Amino acid sequence: MRFGILGAGGYVGGALKSYCERQGIPFVVLGRDSTTSPQHVAQAIETHRVDYLISCAGYTGKPNVDACELHKTDCLHGNAVLPGVLRQGCEAADISWGHVSSGCIYTGRRSDGDGFTEADPPNFSFRQNNCSFYSGTKALGEEVLAGASKCYVWRLRIPFEALPNPRNYLQKVMSYDSLLDAENSLSDLHQFAAACVDSFRLGIPYGFYNLTNPGSVTTREVVELIKQAGVIEKEFRFFQDEDDFMRKAAKTPRSNCVLDSSKALGAGLKLTPIREAIADCLMRWGKA
Ligand SMILES: NC(=O)c1ccc[n+]([C@@H]2O[C@H](COP(=O)([O-])OP(=O)(O)OC[C@H]3O[C@@H](n4cnc5c(N)ncnc54)[C@H](OP(=O)(O)O)[C@@H]3O)[C@@H](O)[C@H]2O)c1
Repeated sequence: MRFGILGAGGYVGGALKSYCERQGIPFVVLGRDSTTSPQHVAQAIETHRVDYLISCAGYTGKPNVDACELHKTDCLHGNAVLPGVLRQGCEAADISWGHVSSGCIYTGRRSDGDGFTEADPPNFSFRQNNCSFYSGTKALGEEVLAGASKCYVWRLRIPFEALPNPRNYLQKVMSYDSLLDAENSLSDLHQFAAACVDSFRLGIPYGFYNLTNPGSVTTREVVELIKQAGVIEKEFRFFQDEDDFMRKAAKTPRSNCVLDSSKALGAGLKLTPIREAIADCLMRWGKA
């Protein structure tokens, strides 16, 4: 099976590419020129003999989602229009494919106290009028893909890994001057990449999957794990509350949320409990 990877130059796409390299999985990197129209997508699939397409392409904003408030056209195009173009191209070529979405379309927990499942509609979106521009476009992208044929939608949430990288959540916690204490579900980036490939390998049912490590953690709990691992010695400081964080460090509201990953686990995808996954990355810090 030969994969076509879109967005391979990015943080998530790079992780997927190195996973395929390490596993000896044949793949081809597809460039932006493959995504100009559904016809270009179908043509690239045929030309490069792609069996399965994985799209890690999207607009995240640099250095963070605040930038999406300023670059709305790119954000809307990368997150809401592009998934539709890919859907049409992949459906015309009749291949299986997957799209990297985000858990940031939710905030908090469900009213019954559980994590959000794939059946729960986003509650941090333009429809609720309570979200960042980034989250709004990610929720629109999911609407565009509802009912898509032979399509996986994988929700990634706050990626972390053992390798230092400014995009790695563990490195962010270690390097930020002040932290917002919030409870979140998170995704081990390498387990996420493996789960994307395994979705095709195992032939699990198409549809939406929360690919977060089971459970949730608060920022303070992550700090404790970092201290226990002895990766860095520093005094960690926290914002007083979300208002303090918004006043001092952010321009647009952030999603903090808990997701339920039991659908992915039930399908046979491997995601280890969140504290275990974080502790494992910290133990291997600096090594792939
Ligand atoms: N990183 C996170 O914390 C996180 C969390 C949850 C979900 N996600 C999702 O994961 C995906 C990848 O994120 P990332 O962090 O890897 O972002 P990234 O580092 O900014 O990489 C994004 C990639 O997408 C490509 N791209 C952007 N707009 C495109 C367009 N209109 N057409 C074709 N390609 C386009 C970029 O191509 P160029 O190299 O040519 O610019 C780049 O290769 C996004 O959909 C994002 O929403 C990320």
